[in-house]
Amino acid sequence: MNNIEDKTIISASILGADLANLERDTLRAAAAGCEYIHFDVMDGVFVPNISFGLPVLKAIPKDNAVIDVHLMIINPIKYVKAFAETGADIITVHLEADTSENIRRAIEEIKACGKKAGLAIKPKTPIESLMPFLNIVDMVLIMTVEPGFGGQGFIDDTLPKISNLSEILVTKNIKIPIQVDGGINDITAEKVKKAGASILVAGAYIYNAPNMTEAVNLLLKENVKIC
Ligand code: DX5
Ligand code: ZN
Repeated sequence: MNNIEDKTIISASILGADLANLERDTLRAAAAGCEYIHFDVMDGVFVPNISFGLPVLKAIPKDNAVIDVHLMIINPIKYVKAFAETGADIITVHLEADTSENIRRAIEEIKACGKKAGLAIKPKTPIESLMPFLNIVDMVLIMTVEPGFGGQGFIDDTLPKISNLSEILVTKNIKIPIQVDGGINDITAEKVKKAGASILVAGAYIYNAPNMTEAVNLLLKENVKIC
């Protein structure tokens, strides 16, 4: 990944976009300073909602941003190759979506396709369960809301998970970024960055903002240090 030097990256969740104007809203996010486009795939089984999948991924513009696919589906191994071939740059699977063995296979398959592999956990899943995978993934996603819907409130209990994982990564000298997803706004962005997250997914906050560039800049801004 390109953000090991503490650089913050905003990944625009197009679940929060105007889906009737997906091309416009994807390009708008990239122009506003979002380096990644976050593409939430939901199957109605792993999460209680159905969003969009391969045909929609095929249709969105991909030249101006890193395409960050978040698979909230069971049996992700069945689909990772298709998402890789359809234009995903990063493919994140959920640890809870299959057996450990199959999740490991899915990660290996993503990497064999030449893509970055992310591993996600839900708010109630402990970070200990990530340990066997830290050496093989390119990114960890700590969900800061229950997956399934955009526009939910940030769960504060996830903050210690982010800071604990961040410490573990430093101790083990594993240089992979922590992504956070759900309820990110100017207030929560500051909290997650302080805890050690560097890739911030944002949907409702940036897409509902009167000025998207200003909203993205607020998420990116450095904390003011009071001496
Ligand atoms: C939730 C999705 C998120 C969601 C974030 O299951 O994974 O990516 O779109 O949206 P906001 O920023 O609106 O909470
Ligand atoms: Zn997501």
